[in-house]
Amino acid sequence: MASGEAKRRTALVTGASAGIGRELALVFASHGFDVVLVARREERLKELGERIGKEHGVKAHVLALDLADPAAPRRLFDEMAARHIMIDALVNNAGYTVPGHFRDTQWADQKALIQVMVTAVAELCHLFGPGMAARQYGRIINVASLAGHLPGAAGGTLYAASKAFVIKLSESLALEYQGRNVHVTALCPGFTYSEFHDVAGNRAEMNKLPKFMWMNGDAVAREAYEAVMAGRPVIINGRLNNFIALLTRLLPQRLVHALMARNQRNAKAKPRAA
Ligand SMILES: NC(=O)c1ccc[n+]([C@@H]2O[C@H](COP(=O)([O-])OP(=O)(O)OC[C@H]3O[C@@H](n4cnc5c(N)ncnc54)[C@H](OP(=O)(O)O)[C@@H]3O)[C@@H](O)[C@H]2O)c1
Repeated sequence: MASGEAKRRTALVTGASAGIGRELALVFASHGFDVVLVARREERLKELGERIGKEHGVKAHVLALDLADPAAPRRLFDEMAARHIMIDALVNNAGYTVPGHFRDTQWADQKALIQVMVTAVAELCHLFGPGMAARQYGRIINVASLAGHLPGAAGGTLYAASKAFVIKLSESLALEYQGRNVHVTALCPGFTYSEFHDVAGNRAEMNKLPKFMWMNGDAVAREAYEAVMAGRPVIINGRLNNFIALLTRLLPQRLVHALMARNQRNAKAKPRAA
């Protein structure tokens, strides 16, 4: 870097190979951040990296990693140190659901979900947060969900629980880092077009939902960027999702639970590969 040249900031995005994470990487790049793209599908990350370089003139680093591996967060942190990449923004986005009733699923699958969506999220905040505080600049987006604001539904059982965890974690971290220019935001999208429901195996059912219930990933990502820059600890995307969250707080809880009992969207297990 030539002397006098402004230092470019770097954003690390997990789950950047698809959906909301891909859009978040594009939004950070469009604001001049170099990006570190993390997910398992390396080819996808490379394609996105090339596009980002061409369209936004920033650097894109690629790291293929399975966040279900308990060693992955530390490896990611050490790899950044080895490459002399300072992380100024962290986006914990990688996620999915394990469809089916909890009792019918394999514990190994539930354990992996906790690793990816709870432990890795907390560990990455724990690893990268102190450096951000010491440098007096940090932006952390933890992707939660509207589901984290609602009571649990039958099926996909740990999903809402993991997202509620992410919301509370983010709120507490936002308070811990107050005054240090480290902003922490829990991003809570509702239904968003991505590969999420293809992975869950319920795309056909989800396609029956009216279009007004859905948002595009780029709109979600832009709102997330604005929210974390403004220092908002929690953002629910879209008017409808905000209205739903408000209703679940205002209505009698017995009624809310009765409504949730009708929501069996994730109760059907995805047929297992032979
Ligand atoms: N779409 C929605 O309606 C919706 C609503 C609310 C919240 N969300 C949340 O938004 C986040 C992004 O989901 P999405 O909708 O964008 O889904 P998506 O299109 O399926 O993308 C999920 C991303 O997570 C990555 N990922 C999954 N397991 C991983 C693992 N073990 N290690 C590393 N990366 C992994 C995937 O990459 P690889 O497969 O290449 O590893 C992919 O890049 C999730 O946290 C999800 O819970 C989604």
